[in-house]
Amino acid sequence: MLTHIKDIAIQLAPRLIEIRRHIHSHPELSGQEYQTSAFVAGVLSSCGIHAEEGVGKTGVIGELQGKGEDTRILGIRTDMDALPIAERTELGFSSRQSGIMHACGHDVHTTVGLGTAMILSQIVEELPGKVRFLFQPAEEIAQGASWMVKDGAMDKIDAILGLHVFPSIPAGSIGLRYGALTAAADELEIIIIGESGHGARPHEAIDAIWIASQVITNLQQAISRTQNPLRPVVLSIGKIEGGRAPNVIADRVQLLGTVRSLHPETRTQLPNWIEQIVANVCHSYGAKYELNYRQGVPSVQNDYAITQILQSAAEEAWGGDAVQILPEPSLGAEDFSVYLDHAPGSMFRLGVGFKDRMINYPLHHPLFDVDESAIVTGVVTLAYAAYKYFSHGA
Ligand code: NI
Repeated sequence: MLTHIKDIAIQLAPRLIEIRRHIHSHPELSGQEYQTSAFVAGVLSSCGIHAEEGVGKTGVIGELQGKGEDTRILGIRTDMDALPIAERTELGFSSRQSGIMHACGHDVHTTVGLGTAMILSQIVEELPGKVRFLFQPAEEIAQGASWMVKDGAMDKIDAILGLHVFPSIPAGSIGLRYGALTAAADELEIIIIGESGHGARPHEAIDAIWIASQVITNLQQAISRTQNPLRPVVLSIGKIEGGRAPNVIADRVQLLGTVRSLHPETRTQLPNWIEQIVANVCHSYGAKYELNYRQGVPSVQNDYAITQILQSAAEEAWGGDAVQILPEPSLGAEDFSVYLDHAPGSMFRLGVGFKDRMINYPLHHPLFDVDESAIVTGVVTLAYAAYKYFSHGA
């Protein structure tokens, strides 16, 4: 079966590169993937897969029923949105939408999802169960997965696979991780409320700017002294706003930040822990505060058995040297985790680095580029892992 899948993938390669370049030149922002989803639905239909558009706003679902007797459903999720970045690659197929770019490789993900669908539709007679393809919108704003789930995309799914391109490992290789792959990403808003006054008479005012600076310093110090260093927490204040004039003491400062963590248990304790520190500082100096902690996406926790299926599929297909077990998770976020609340699954990293380039630009960079040979690596790995999932026994 593996040889058969590889042969089909090699035959499809020119078409897949064409698809990837088409999607790359026509990027669309999160929640506006109208052309992309119509294109995806068209390709799915052309290989006999029933496609449903408008799932999760601008998402698409395709279902392929294998001819075997396995009643399970395997989900394969790829995301489709681009970023508000002006592309500077000067590739022949670079973005035709000014200020929008597929700088996170979701064009490759969508292509790999379509390529996998094309291959599995050609081996449908030998496919033991049902595969549901989830083409997700709005990953970059961490909302698309929730939209898809709300519209029933995960109903009856038994397991789910996903991928993300990774420029720091070369094309032809696959990165895997058991357990945590990405971090939980929560949002934080703190408002410090003091009392305005003359800049020359601080003792008659409550200086919200100075107290805000104490809050930030205390939070950063408290992370290093009160959080388990083996359970990482990153708190970054990315926006601060307050005050009116150089000689007026500010009565209000707003701080906006992101909070990243890997351990679900640590994560549940963070809102109270942060509030205690903010409250202590504010009370010491007579200020009031408001705190809004918004839970974002959870951490991606890859399932052991499903990661094993991916690992053995990738090793059989490409040899052990091409498969890396990633030593560290990332503190980036990925809303694939939202699906994992409904079924176990695993997301792998697809190497897209050019072996002969000194610099492979990182994700979200205006010069980000991928070695397109990785597309075949991705589709063969996913298609074969899907086949193996069903062969693995119920
Ligand atoms: Ni991404």
